[in-house]
Amino acid sequence: MKLIEGKQLTKSFGKNNAVSDVSFAIERGEVLGLVGESGSGKSTLARLILKLIEPTSGEIIYHGIDNVRRECQIVFQDPQTSLNPRIKIGEAIGEPLLVHGVLSPNLIPQKAQELLSIVKLPENYASRYPHELSGGERQRVGIARALALNPKFLILDEPVSSLDVSIQVDILKLLKELKQRLNLTYLFIAHDIHVIAYMSDRIAVMKEGWIVEIGGRDQVLNSPTEQYTKRLLAATPKI
Ligand SMILES: Nc1ncnc2c1ncn2[C@@H]1O[C@H](COP(=O)(O)OP(=O)(O)OP(=O)(O)O)[C@@H](O)[C@H]1O
Ligand SMILES: [Mg+2]
Repeated sequence: MKLIEGKQLTKSFGKNNAVSDVSFAIERGEVLGLVGESGSGKSTLARLILKLIEPTSGEIIYHGIDNVRRECQIVFQDPQTSLNPRIKIGEAIGEPLLVHGVLSPNLIPQKAQELLSIVKLPENYASRYPHELSGGERQRVGIARALALNPKFLILDEPVSSLDVSIQVDILKLLKELKQRLNLTYLFIAHDIHVIAYMSDRIAVMKEGWIVEIGGRDQVLNSPTEQYTKRLLAATPKI
């Protein structure tokens, strides 16, 4: 069953197409990996799906998602810049709940603690500031915040690219576990095809705004049809 479909999506910035005639479907419960070089249009596609920007042409169809702002959330690459240094972790996690008015303010600290334990951080981290956490811990906060509104769908836009390899594995494992536990569907973006291989059920390869290849994980990895995918596979060292 499809959760989200893109149909012939194009997004131009001036004369350039950041996304060109892109069509795809994301099935409920799957991880669609999206890989491609820097500038290939991955984050632009993510912003289109989240309705943060409007497509120049084409459309996105949501199945069983009524409120995109609430039910579709994103985790960014750099938890350092996505967290306000002056706001305590507990408040940062509770902020979406406050903004959307889904929980009365006096219940938010309790909910923030629950979310911390879901991402396996001690509850007393709620009273810390972002600089008092490691990079991996901060990314767990980014994930907790994205989960605050009980989303159905998460976009992970290079969620481990800024982390050490050993910490990357911990975060990827946590994301896999959360997906099962919370019945989530992911669009998982990375430029590292080995991270994509670890996470994805299906893989889409983007190049210069186009999806040049999309298919099952094993098919794309073992018998890619595109020269570009072969080059990506050859270029990245295995983790
Ligand atoms: N708001 C914008 N205004 C103008 N050009 C933009 C804008 N956002 C993105 N672009 C351009 O669109 C293209 C695709 O950018 P995008 O950020 O989607 O790439 P990406 O695949 O996410 O790259 P990276 O791996 O580096 O994050 C780039 O050429 C970028 O300069
Ligand atoms: Mg990007």
